[in-house]
Amino acid sequence: MGKFRIRGGRKLAGNVRVIGAKNAILPILAAVILTRKPVVLYDFPHLADVENMLLILQSIGCRIKRENSTLFIDPSDINSWVIPDRYVKEIRSSIVMLGAVLARMQKAVITYPGGCEIGQRPINLHLQGLRQLGVIITESHGYLECEAANMVGADIHLDYPSVGATENIMLAATRARGRTVIRNAAKEPEITDLQNFINSMGGKVAGAGSNTITIDGVESFHETEYTVIPDRIVAGTYLVAAAITGSEIVVENVILEHIQAIVTKLRETGCMITPYKGTDLGAIKIKAPPRLWAIENTKTHPYPGFPTDMQALLMSALTVSKGTSIITENIFENRFKHVPELIRMGARIRTEGKIAVIQGVPRLKGAQVSAGDLRGGAALVMAGLNAEGVTEIDNVRHIERGYDKLDEYLRSIGADIERIESS
Ligand code: EPZ
Repeated sequence: MGKFRIRGGRKLAGNVRVIGAKNAILPILAAVILTRKPVVLYDFPHLADVENMLLILQSIGCRIKRENSTLFIDPSDINSWVIPDRYVKEIRSSIVMLGAVLARMQKAVITYPGGCEIGQRPINLHLQGLRQLGVIITESHGYLECEAANMVGADIHLDYPSVGATENIMLAATRARGRTVIRNAAKEPEITDLQNFINSMGGKVAGAGSNTITIDGVESFHETEYTVIPDRIVAGTYLVAAAITGSEIVVENVILEHIQAIVTKLRETGCMITPYKGTDLGAIKIKAPPRLWAIENTKTHPYPGFPTDMQALLMSALTVSKGTSIITENIFENRFKHVPELIRMGARIRTEGKIAVIQGVPRLKGAQVSAGDLRGGAALVMAGLNAEGVTEIDNVRHIERGYDKLDEYLRSIGADIERIESS
């Protein structure tokens, strides 16, 4: 089991580049099997969750070659509609394979994805939408057995703008007869990226980014080459690293519109964040004050609200701010696992249900802590960058599900962090 060992208090400096978004590439990898022609994907992140999705694709017949951050996928010979349990249990987001396999094979068998560290993660909205397309779903002995011989476009209203349900229905609807409308759809940038990818192969999807998406079924898809959008949560993580250490850095390869809510919050803490000229795509410069201001109130909401995936990261910065902050986690029911670990580092936080009250302290103290989930683990890394002395974070496998070589990237801008194998 790996550990991160961090000696805190170092100022950061220099430029760091964000790579492709985990939550964009996962549904796009599922969408690859919609076509029988070759697909090339650029800028893919080397993450445990992505490796797992590639194993799923290979297990049903895809041939995959990779060169650095480019993936060459041949989906011409998909020969199975059964998604292997071991991968679904590894990453529950593999549930998005369901819609794609139904579109390609007209049937699918997948084990019920369990909950995870941050919540039960139900899939009722996924199944409701698929059933409205005419998919016959039998739930037996923990498996979903699905028949989709005659999918017909439907007018589907989601009770909640679920990212995964929107993606699953979009994928299946690409091969339903006629038009499907998804109302109260999720508006995250990763949904728009999925739409653009599907359309790059000849799909007819429109409206992503708004709360109403239309999908016209097509007979077949052609080949494509595609670059996924940069990871807005990884970009936000680097911004927090600068904020919590009072540093000035440049974050490259960002789409400013995707991180507006994050930038607004960090500006409230006293950070100066400005577009940075002189590099490709978007780049932003952050200059943090010696000590951050508290933020009176932050509530997590679906996009374009403040993202739940940044809740733990912002909390870590607020633990060393001047004043008292309140954070309300509205999306997941168990997303404060980082709180007891931050308290071990000297943070002063009280939680009551979905509300956390953070009283800022001048500085944290290094400690032995444990990552309990992906973003909570990243928050502990941020806290370690600030803390006096040495912080050791174990269970880094949680962090490596969503961050590609986080220690290397942070070292490249001056952090004293190393990855060690725990005894
Ligand atoms: C996606 O999860 C992301 N994962 C999550 O990122 C992210 O936190 C989440 O969207 C919200 O933005 C990927 O894209 C792979 P949801 P997803 O369906 O699709 C409830 C990370 O850290 N719900 O929008 O599972 C659910 O319980 C991960 O990168 C139902 O009730 O999110 C939750 O409370 C963590 N029924 C809320 O909706 C359903 O059928 C949001 O879930 C589906 C969801």
